[in-house]
Amino acid sequence: MINRQWRLARRPEGRVGPEHFQWTSAPVPEPAEGQFLVRTRYLSFDPAQRGWLNDLPSYIRPVAIGEVMRALGVGEVVASRHPDFPVGCWVAGPLGWQDYALLDASPGPFSVERLEPGVPPTWYLHLLGITGLTAYFGMVEVGRLRPGETVAVSAAAGATGSVAGQLARICGCRVIGIAGGERKVRFLRDELGFDEALDHRGGDLARRLKALAPSGIDLFFDNVGGEVLDSALVNLARGARVVICGAIASGYTAKAPAAGVHQHLQLVLRRARMEGFLVLDYAERFAVARAALRRFAERGQLRVVEDVAHGLEHCPEVLAGLFEGRNLGKQLLEV
Ligand SMILES: NC(=O)c1ccc[n+]([C@@H]2O[C@H](COP(=O)([O-])OP(=O)(O)OC[C@H]3O[C@@H](n4cnc5c(N)ncnc54)[C@H](OP(=O)(O)O)[C@@H]3O)[C@@H](O)[C@H]2O)c1
Repeated sequence: MINRQWRLARRPEGRVGPEHFQWTSAPVPEPAEGQFLVRTRYLSFDPAQRGWLNDLPSYIRPVAIGEVMRALGVGEVVASRHPDFPVGCWVAGPLGWQDYALLDASPGPFSVERLEPGVPPTWYLHLLGITGLTAYFGMVEVGRLRPGETVAVSAAAGATGSVAGQLARICGCRVIGIAGGERKVRFLRDELGFDEALDHRGGDLARRLKALAPSGIDLFFDNVGGEVLDSALVNLARGARVVICGAIASGYTAKAPAAGVHQHLQLVLRRARMEGFLVLDYAERFAVARAALRRFAERGQLRVVEDVAHGLEHCPEVLAGLFEGRNLGKQLLEV
């Protein structure tokens, strides 16, 4: 049996693409004592993966040249010498861009966990995985979500944004989504029940936001940074909270710094607070968040939006697609 793999060939300086990876194959490894072999079924695609390719200090070590590309995934245990991970069980963990991953149960930023039967496996990469948890803690803890407020979310039709905006709707807020293109704008309004949606590519976003939120935005959940963040800052209500979840407009490249924020004085004038956060810091409370997220989805209050590509051979272009806004909802790949 052959294990097809994508390995990092060279570090991108700007946009990531297929030219930065090498398609290789190796024999499928045998588990040693304490290890288990997982057949990868689905892979998660996350903007953070671009950051992991930079040889810079971060919350996790960079992917090394020649190493299998790091990625979260779910799969089935097909050989095992670990009593807690028997053959036939499904797990979520750092499987990487490969058909088979040899794992052990050692702790790490992304440790391995068994999936609960009856829960769709892909939910562990989205609703109950990093993106759903990020939306939950960003909104509830950092953003102090409160009923009746006006909430705006950027990259709102993406994985994290679609959950964040729906949480605000469930809480009884008026929700404005910002996304790229008419298809996404329509999707937010017609399918996810956002009150309003705007195309960030349409020019003069600040003015269009003002028209939709004349009394100001109480909570802004930002995935984008740069001009989108500036447009929200000039439209904040007094005492607003600005949650910095990410800054994908920077492309997470090694050289170019994040696009500048010019309107931070608005935080002073509007007595507002801006705060960044990292979801991994909330690991001890993931179970509480997951129970809430799962309940919302099972009751039909929260729609789990997945965009599934097919074929391990397409991993590099699928990752590049996140930075071009090709995905609607959570980008996954079925191996
Ligand atoms: N703080 C944390 O712990 C944490 C954890 C997970 C993720 N994040 C952050 O959350 C954000 C969303 O991640 P995700 O996994 O949910 O990805 P995602 O939103 O599903 O995909 C990325 C989206 O970003 C938008 N985008 C890409 N380039 C852009 C640009 N130059 N300007 C404006 N929008 C752009 C695109 O949507 P449009 O078509 O709408 O432009 C694209 O679909 C990222 O910033 C990520 O780094 C943070």
